[in-house]
Amino acid sequence: VINAMNRSLERLRQEEARSAALARDRETLFKELQHRISNNLGIVSALLNLQRADVEDPKAKHALTEAATRLQLIAKIHRKLHDPAGAQLRFGPFLEDLCRDILEASGARNIVCLVTAADAQIAPERTIPLALIVTELISNALEHGFEAGRPGTIRIDFAPERPGSREQVLTVSDDGAGLPDGFSLENATGLGLRIVKSLTRQLDGRLVMETAGGTTCRLVFPA
Ligand SMILES: Nc1ncnc2c1ncn2[C@@H]1O[C@H](COP(=O)(O)OP(=O)(O)O)[C@@H](O)[C@H]1O
Ligand SMILES: [Mg+2]
Repeated sequence: VINAMNRSLERLRQEEARSAALARDRETLFKELQHRISNNLGIVSALLNLQRADVEDPKAKHALTEAATRLQLIAKIHRKLHDPAGAQLRFGPFLEDLCRDILEASGARNIVCLVTAADAQIAPERTIPLALIVTELISNALEHGFEAGRPGTIRIDFAPERPGSREQVLTVSDDGAGLPDGFSLENATGLGLRIVKSLTRQLDGRLVMETAGGTTCRLVFPA
């Protein structure tokens, strides 16, 4: 009996070792796959940049630049989401990085970007839509709020709606020129805000934009 038990135990151990090896293989493959996805996104972005060189029309050139930049951002976020170190993405530092990148890319001077984010966790599938929304809103603040080198501050706040609430609020506000007269988000037809509205729907969220000593955009979405 004891011999039979020992044999069973030995077989069990072998099974366990095999499962562990399989799990390791799968993890390696998964990481490899994520790595390739990020790289491929980067390649698509580079292709769009190449194509831009063959285009004369300034509007078309600009559209290709913007599309390439958005794809590059998605590639970058994807890489961060699947960090090989396996670290969970922290949204606050992530937003700070994002702001720094956008400010740098725009060459803006005299603009400060302040981020306050409670150490909230974000579901990974929300990170890309949220990052794209923030990118559009920051770009708009830079482009329309602070024209002609006007100095100012962009604030990004991320927190639960109320303490203990299941809703989260992301606010992007600037102390720039404010929205143009007669502005209405419903009727806004620019590509940036159309992207923002579509991603807001995707998040089951709601968005309000108003002028109050600059422009404030407030996005509420279920946690
Ligand atoms: N932070 C802001 N400050 C002032 N005006 C803004 C701001 N954000 C958006 N707007 C107004 O909303 C319009 C639409 O924005 P958008 O859809 O991103 O298109 P675009 O940026 O290409 O003009 C802008 O042209 C601008 O008039
Ligand atoms: Mg815009």
